[in-house]
Amino acid sequence: MKGRNERFHDRYARVYDAVYEKSAYWRFYRDLTWHNVKRFLPRDAGAEIADLGCGTGEWGLRCMASGYRVTFVDLSNEMLCRARERVDEEYPGRESLFIKSDICELKDLPSDRFGLALAQGDPLSFTEDPARAAREIRRILRPGGVAIASVDSRCNGYDYYLESGDLDSLEEFHKSGKTEWLARDKRERFPTHAFLPGELTKLFERAGLEVVDLCGKTCLDARGHAELLEDPKAFRRLFNIELECRREPAFIGRAAHLEIVVKKPEK
Ligand SMILES: C[S@@+](CC[C@H](N)C(=O)[O-])C[C@H]1O[C@@H](n2cnc3c(N)ncnc32)[C@H](O)[C@@H]1O
Repeated sequence: MKGRNERFHDRYARVYDAVYEKSAYWRFYRDLTWHNVKRFLPRDAGAEIADLGCGTGEWGLRCMASGYRVTFVDLSNEMLCRARERVDEEYPGRESLFIKSDICELKDLPSDRFGLALAQGDPLSFTEDPARAAREIRRILRPGGVAIASVDSRCNGYDYYLESGDLDSLEEFHKSGKTEWLARDKRERFPTHAFLPGELTKLFERAGLEVVDLCGKTCLDARGHAELLEDPKAFRRLFNIELECRREPAFIGRAAHLEIVVKKPEK
């Protein structure tokens, strides 16, 4: 039987692209993501890339545009269908794989294969077993392969509980990082995990991966001031400021999401 997470994302798949495309904030966010991902695209064009929690395929499609072969993975069948439609439209005849799977159980993906694995848009926060997901990511990466994951940041969640005055839940959140996806319809809510920077680093180190980079996304409150981003010049100026602060620990604490880059050792 489908869990709430899967049901929510199956429904969300229908409107997902429209939500992200029309918002200046999400354009800003996505430009930051791609700015980071581009730095770690494999040098060899024949390399394979895994887009884990691929949604409608945004990152895998961008990788396909650079010539890589992509395996798209998602818990939601509807998200995968939309990703496949986009691939068929944009790259008819190009070979790619679509696998329905939880990020913590990648048994249909081969070991030591991928030059790059992406887990963008919080699938590690959404899975019930992030430690197992980190081990699976290590397993599927080829030696020297890199993974880039974004997750919900714990520091960003405290104000929600303070504003609601629910101190029991605040204490629980403070201790464990456990919270829930705040869908408007309470029946659609599902458990999620918000990470502290050190916790995220340890998660991957314990899985046998080396941490290469950690930053916040977004450190400026771009969502709260999205109207500024409608002006292309202001967009560019804010983008440059964001790039300059995103690795400073104090700024990382302001961000809604954390983004980590990890590498599988060569040997
Ligand atoms: C916010 S969307 C991000 C989609 C895409 N990666 C992006 O950045 O645009 C999160 C995606 O993760 C998927 N997801 C949620 N939980 C997952 C899990 N446990 N394993 C794999 N995918 C999951 C959802 O179905 C959804 O497509």
